[in-house]
Amino acid sequence: MTVLFADVVRSMDIAAVLDVERLREIMTELVERSAAVVQRYGGGSVEYTGDGLMALFGAPVALEDHAFRACLAALAIQDEACGLATEVQRRDGVTLGLRVGLNSGRVIAGEFGSGSLGYAATGEPIGFAKRMESVAPPGGVMLSESTARLVENSTQLSEPEWVHIKGTDEPVRAQRLVAIGARESHLGRAEADLVGRHWEMGTLDALMDRALSGHGSVVNVVGPAGIGKSRVAREVAGAAARRGFEVFWTFCESHARDVPFGVLSQLLRVGSGVNNLDDEAARDGLRVFVPDIDPQDRLLLEDLLGIADPNVALPQIDPDARRRRLTAMINSVTLARSEPALYIVEDAHWIDAVSESMLADLVTVIPRTPSLVLITSRPEYDGELKQVHGAQAIALAPLDDSDTATLLAALLGSDPSVGALSEIMADRAAGNPFFAEEMVREFVQRGVLTGERGHYVCRTDVSELSVPATVQAAIEARIDRLSAPGRQTLYAASVIGARFESGLLTALGIGAMFDELLGAELIDQVGFTADAEFAFRHPLIRAVAYESQLKSDRAQWHRRLAAAIEESEPDSADENAAMIAEHLQAAGDLHAAYGWHMRAATWATNRDISAAWRSWERARRIADALPDYDPEQLSMRIAPRTMLCGIAWRVHVNIVGDQFEELRQLCNSAGDDASLAIGMAGLVIDHAYHARIRQAATLASEAWALAEGLEDPNLTVGVFLPLIYAMIECGEWHEVLRWSQQVIDLSGDDPSKGNIIFGSPLAVAHTARGMARYSMGRRGWRDDLRQGLSIGRSVDPLSYAAANSFTYFGGIPTGVLRPSDSVIREIEDALQIAERSGDDLAVANVRMALGVALAHRDTDAQRDRGQQLLAEVGDIFVRQEHNLAELPIIHVLLARERSRRGDGDDAIDLMRSAVDQQFRDGPWLLWNAAVTGVLVETLLEHRGPDGVAEAEAAIERLTGGADDGLAIREIWLLRLRTLVAHTQGDSETEVALRHRYHEMAQSLGYEGHLDWAEAMEQARA
Ligand SMILES: Nc1ncnc2c1ncn2[C@@H]1O[C@H](COP(=O)(O)OP(=O)(O)O)[C@@H](O)[C@H]1O
Ligand SMILES: [Mg+2]
Repeated sequence: MTVLFADVVRSMDIAAVLDVERLREIMTELVERSAAVVQRYGGGSVEYTGDGLMALFGAPVALEDHAFRACLAALAIQDEACGLATEVQRRDGVTLGLRVGLNSGRVIAGEFGSGSLGYAATGEPIGFAKRMESVAPPGGVMLSESTARLVENSTQLSEPEWVHIKGTDEPVRAQRLVAIGARESHLGRAEADLVGRHWEMGTLDALMDRALSGHGSVVNVVGPAGIGKSRVAREVAGAAARRGFEVFWTFCESHARDVPFGVLSQLLRVGSGVNNLDDEAARDGLRVFVPDIDPQDRLLLEDLLGIADPNVALPQIDPDARRRRLTAMINSVTLARSEPALYIVEDAHWIDAVSESMLADLVTVIPRTPSLVLITSRPEYDGELKQVHGAQAIALAPLDDSDTATLLAALLGSDPSVGALSEIMADRAAGNPFFAEEMVREFVQRGVLTGERGHYVCRTDVSELSVPATVQAAIEARIDRLSAPGRQTLYAASVIGARFESGLLTALGIGAMFDELLGAELIDQVGFTADAEFAFRHPLIRAVAYESQLKSDRAQWHRRLAAAIEESEPDSADENAAMIAEHLQAAGDLHAAYGWHMRAATWATNRDISAAWRSWERARRIADALPDYDPEQLSMRIAPRTMLCGIAWRVHVNIVGDQFEELRQLCNSAGDDASLAIGMAGLVIDHAYHARIRQAATLASEAWALAEGLEDPNLTVGVFLPLIYAMIECGEWHEVLRWSQQVIDLSGDDPSKGNIIFGSPLAVAHTARGMARYSMGRRGWRDDLRQGLSIGRSVDPLSYAAANSFTYFGGIPTGVLRPSDSVIREIEDALQIAERSGDDLAVANVRMALGVALAHRDTDAQRDRGQQLLAEVGDIFVRQEHNLAELPIIHVLLARERSRRGDGDDAIDLMRSAVDQQFRDGPWLLWNAAVTGVLVETLLEHRGPDGVAEAEAAIERLTGGADDGLAIREIWLLRLRTLVAHTQGDSETEVALRHRYHEMAQSLGYEGHLDWAEAMEQARA
């Protein structure tokens, strides 16, 4: 057992300044806090000693790690004392200090018989602890030699000093406790020296050099299980630490693959030094780590780290914006860091998808920092982290024969009796060091090898020996040899994961047998707080332990674990939903698992759409596997599918195929039109984004009719945005007018009515009605557009972005609106808002609006910027496969800039194909007039009379043989015919047409056309 002795430094001024009453108050406080600490770390009886206290660890209950626990308690008591001292200093103006001494030894059981030791107890170990206390510096913890020896592997101690204590003449050895050993250093793990891996270590060393000079890199260390990836990482970590790098470890786990954000948040917690703190302390720590960030950004970061205050609402922003802002913030923190850091991400083949893609973004700044990122993975991993631009790759090959021989010699020793066995093992291991080690352990446990590690003797005839065929077989044999309770512990732990805390096993009702497992080198202890943390020595051991149990037993563990996780962190149930769902699914509780997947998806919708998508997908698969007679099967199959179809376009998943048809059939058999309408709305967007405008519009009409038929205003209004988008693109102005009118009526005064998909359908309804009205030559459109913008602005950033982009990229190229200074400012403003809070699509749309507006300005500088923006969004549209229907207008405007720069012929070619594209789905579409207009102008400008024939054909195509008197088309026809007449030198016709053009522009209030008409007149004057 270990004795802890703590005493207040009784300086003169304490006695002089404080009255008895106050002194007692302070002492009571100190003793109470310390007693709580002792209890927390499993200490036994606590004695009050007048000026301090004494506590025992390891008695009366035997604790194998009593010395270590006493160290933890000692440091924690000093922390408490420190806090109290600050208070006392402030209030009473005196300095309070505490000394702590520790000593370990055997105590005769009888001494505890009375239940109280009495301060006067003078057992030798107790007296010695008091002596240690007396030589400790104020604020310090002094360890006797016996205690130091027990904890030297798990703590950091000062150099030994020789101190004089009362009662002996000889000085005695003592060491000061500095800190608890680093959690990741695999304390006390006995390892053979590293063999081979010379060039690998050399390369990594060189990369460290480069990092130190400010040029960091990302390195992938790749190889099969057991080949030595983690070992290389540990070696690098050691070398890096010696060279001044701070080292941060993160571990991906096979069972957490579907738990979004897990790995990233772990890495960030470790990197910001707030790991292992409770949430509140972690938030404080984060405040110190990143002192000046935007308060909203701080909330996002806390949420990402899983340490958010549940009582504070998250900013209402789109997941895309959240990601943009988090990435920007983390990158700037990474870039600002001037000390070298090594980030290790272990076993990336198990990384969750969200962490993976965010991390791939984050590491792009590493080359500009003094940092290294080392990622280990198995060869089958081919994800984004492997493809990071400029990343190095180190593939670990099997050890060669001589390295294997060296390794085996180190493990077995050089007794001649092990020679033959060593050869067999070398052959079997095939250069896999882990297999070699496991075989050695297996033979030792079987009794084939006897003696000490590194000095074994083999008494068995090797020709009669069965040698494990695979590393799994070796592990299995070792597990079989455990006692039943030991095996039980290992099995339960394997269900928790590669790392597990003792507390969770207790919650599973396991009387955990860690000693046996530690002794068998199946697990290591990696965390030494009150709730000890362990890790499987290798992921394969966990995998074998997991696989080799009966499925039904395993299911039990999973079920209990799900309950334990839910119970232990009731505040984090949403955050843990994905994990709970996995366990329940593995337990075979399909209905419950389904519910948790759906819950996880809802949690993720505000954080990452693709994560939400994955959870719905998992829910869908569960539902599909349910038997037909299950009464809930149908509705369970519909719900996730509805969401999947509804959002598929946002994660670029093509649902045109079976997914949607299945949803339709299921909805039909359930009579569930509402779900069908929502799923359909998603499909409409998907069609529209892929420029299948006709199909989009047809389906939109069907969905609208369905929604109308349900007479549920929230639903009708709710599906409006995607449907109206298709109709606008298609130029179906009568329908646009009718539907938007309906939404305006159904919404009443509520700008947020029907906000299922989108904040303010009403805002867009006004914008859409405005567009329909101006296209059809009706009055009131200007007020409509204004109102759309102001309602959008009052509701949320996304609604504003939508109203803004519809208004301007619809209005400017068609000549309805003028790209005035104030309009440019307004769009710039909307862009900022969208970047802060909107999804990537909203940002792209507003950028397009800005590009379009700038492309219609007079100065070269503005048009250059417009051109650049349009080129960029065009690229994004193509790459991300959305807004493809907008490509023709973008290409035409870009080509016009080319022609202005004198590249007329190429420009015309580009325009022709863009116009063909634009007309592929019919003559009515939104952009038809504008693109035709640019082509005709350019033809006439560049070719003069030679361009007339083609210009006329283009104009004819725009009429589409129709005579519906659509104002927007009429005015373009007038304008273009005026230009043709001018080019032909037919001035009579020209003047007549020009007047009509001017008048029409005036009466309709089309600002752009008015400007153009006036410009024509000035040119002819
Ligand atoms: N080059 C080496 N020299 C000595 N021991 C090694 C070497 N490579 C791996 N080992 C040992 O083999 C075992 C498995 O290695 P590990 O790094 O965990 O494999 P991986 O991470 O690739 O699955 C570890 O105990 C490790 O110490
Ligand atoms: Mg490993």
